[in-house]
Amino acid sequence: MMRRAKISVIGAGNIGGECARSLAMKELGDVVLLDIANKDKPELHMPKGKALDLACCGPVEGFDARITGTFDYADIEGSDVVVVTAGVPRKPGQSRDDLVSINSGIVKSVAENIKKFAPNAIVIVVSNPLDAMVYVMWKVTGFPAHRVIGQAGALDVARYKTFLAFELGVSVEDIQGLLLGGHGDDMVPLPNRTSVNGIPVTDLLPAEKIQACVDRAKVGGGEIVKLMGTSAWYAPSAGTVEMVEAIVRDKKRVIASAAYCEDQFGVAPGQKGKGYFVGVPAVLGAKGVEKIITFKLDDTEKKFMDESISHVRDLVGVVKRLYPELA
Ligand code: APR
Repeated sequence: MMRRAKISVIGAGNIGGECARSLAMKELGDVVLLDIANKDKPELHMPKGKALDLACCGPVEGFDARITGTFDYADIEGSDVVVVTAGVPRKPGQSRDDLVSINSGIVKSVAENIKKFAPNAIVIVVSNPLDAMVYVMWKVTGFPAHRVIGQAGALDVARYKTFLAFELGVSVEDIQGLLLGGHGDDMVPLPNRTSVNGIPVTDLLPAEKIQACVDRAKVGGGEIVKLMGTSAWYAPSAGTVEMVEAIVRDKKRVIASAAYCEDQFGVAPGQKGKGYFVGVPAVLGAKGVEKIITFKLDDTEKKFMDESISHVRDLVGVVKRLYPELA
């Protein structure tokens, strides 16, 4: 019998729960949901309850995947992939960056446990502010950089394609596009490299309409926070599961991911071990980030990319001031 993958999801809230559901629906492996919620109330056990509810979808949806819930990190032992969604989400009026001090403490403690209990796992970080949290994960675990990845681009690209499809009145499946840079409002869309089955989108829409889609993708997360009072979870989870699938099935998918860069796209040229995680096209397979695809940016793209990198650097600077040992 083929061994099933083991996927642990740390943080069983909105994104974590939806991730677990989708991972099971696609039968990508057995899922362990870990959370600390209600740990102080002995009569309650949120992750166990959520796992049980999810497991009971199995007969209806027709999936065979074990889903278990736990407070105990010993249960993540042997995980092939660990997804980290632990942390607080945004409230209306907050930027992702406003979460940096609270979530870096949470991600640091989660990382210490992953290092101890799942030392061979590939880690996908989802907690925000993403580019800084994935840096914390890398520093604290000490894992090789190809095994630490941030989910941001998969979601941002999905939003970008969705808004273009709305505008063009075509299927989302037929839109190809990419975004680079940090997971903030200064992410870098590439309209000149976006197409509808190879037809440049610049031939199909006037510049201002494309710009409107680009702008909406940049603040798409904030648009949802305003409507719901908390941050999105369905599309963030879909983006995360896309990455897990590429890894577990060794698909070599090219997915915009927050991957560790030094020379790539001028992130930290020649600075060995002093790079940053920023959104770049990454080949994801069984080893994690198997390759970063680089290409020459035009002057406008380069200007936006430099600004985005400098923002990521500032944000990581905040983390380094909070935790000098992570410098
Ligand atoms: N260890 C494990 N779980 C934790 C910890 C911790 N130290 N601290 C918080 N959690 C759990 C919470 O108990 C909660 O169940 O993380 C879960 C977060 O779930 P939600 O509050 O529903 O937030 P969600 O919408 O899932 O977003 C999680 O991902 O995209 C980012 O900005 C988002 O940072 C946020 C994170």
